[in-house]
Amino acid sequence: MPNAIITAVSGFVPDQVLSNVDLEKIMDTSDDWIISRTGIKERRVMPPDQAVTRIGTECVQSILSQRDIDPDSIDLVICATCTADYIIPDSANSICSESGLNKAYGFDLNAACSGFVYALHTAAQFIKSGTHQRIIVVGAEKLTSYMNYEDRTTSIIFGDGGGAVLVESSEEEGIGVIDAELRGDGTGREVLRIDAGGSLNPVTQERLDKKAHTVFQDGRQVFKRAVQGMTSSMLEVMKRNELTNDDIRWVVPHQANLRIISAVANQLDFPMERVMVNIDKYANTSAGTIPLCLWEYESQMKKGDGIMLTAFGGGFTWGSLFLRWAY
Ligand code: COA
Repeated sequence: MPNAIITAVSGFVPDQVLSNVDLEKIMDTSDDWIISRTGIKERRVMPPDQAVTRIGTECVQSILSQRDIDPDSIDLVICATCTADYIIPDSANSICSESGLNKAYGFDLNAACSGFVYALHTAAQFIKSGTHQRIIVVGAEKLTSYMNYEDRTTSIIFGDGGGAVLVESSEEEGIGVIDAELRGDGTGREVLRIDAGGSLNPVTQERLDKKAHTVFQDGRQVFKRAVQGMTSSMLEVMKRNELTNDDIRWVVPHQANLRIISAVANQLDFPMERVMVNIDKYANTSAGTIPLCLWEYESQMKKGDGIMLTAFGGGFTWGSLFLRWAY
């Protein structure tokens, strides 16, 4: 069975910065409160006329040029997102067309903030089965389209951006995606959701007036479940693969809140120096956070390094994936 290895990574964030100080001007909050409760200093905002397709296309084009790859050799693009440009069509197909991937097909995968881990696991199955040779997995979001800036507890934590990885088939042993533990619990929809805009509650003026098309969450409930979910799924993968902390060079957590990340590291007795963190700059970009971390830390990873991805998101969805870096 071939291995599914990551051979390139890219990231993209828009230029516009929305800092905590900017937020102080439009709501009753403070830079100190946001930093101390979340670790976030600023986030990025996509322009009104651009969304997930633009982020994904930038990332795909970067991967193609970095490796001088023939666009026709890409079989599939999976775009992990919960903020696609449109309800129909999906963003992945638009990304394929915009990037000149004439022979690829694409589909979106919505597992909220766990989307990238779910999508990478899915891509690995296609590669390991032998049916696909080259897949690009994108994790990208434009969450600022779904913020209610009158809700100071939720709107401060989200931002726009994303990244992508190239997943290829390889016969080399000991590298690539090794194992994943993915979980879900649909009862979580009560505490983290967007009520309107889907088929159950289509957009009406009344729902718009109530801001029902924006993200609602019970932050404390989500916080607790995120720590539990990320910790337990990581421990499960470690147990199944007889891994100790020493076998993991880097933990790459979904960037939801620095206190969630620290609590998970603390429960596993894992040193923060080996945990990738960039929430201060980009905030929570949902499915975008993990590839954005891989992109920023790329030069620090070495071939064979054990890398543990872990995420938690709306649904609830959660999971961890262990891989060995391939370059
Ligand atoms: N600025 C200043 N004060 C704020 C504030 C803000 N932006 N947001 C909330 N507060 C206030 C609250 O009104 C409350 O005041 P009170 O004690 O007078 O009632 C107080 O701060 C504590 O609010 P609480 O909601 O308990 O804060 P918290 O410590 O739980 O932090 C979150 C809120 C949202 C940052 C935190 O719960 C969190 O990150 N949860 C996880 C969310 C998440 O990750 N979601 C995505 C999942 S992938």
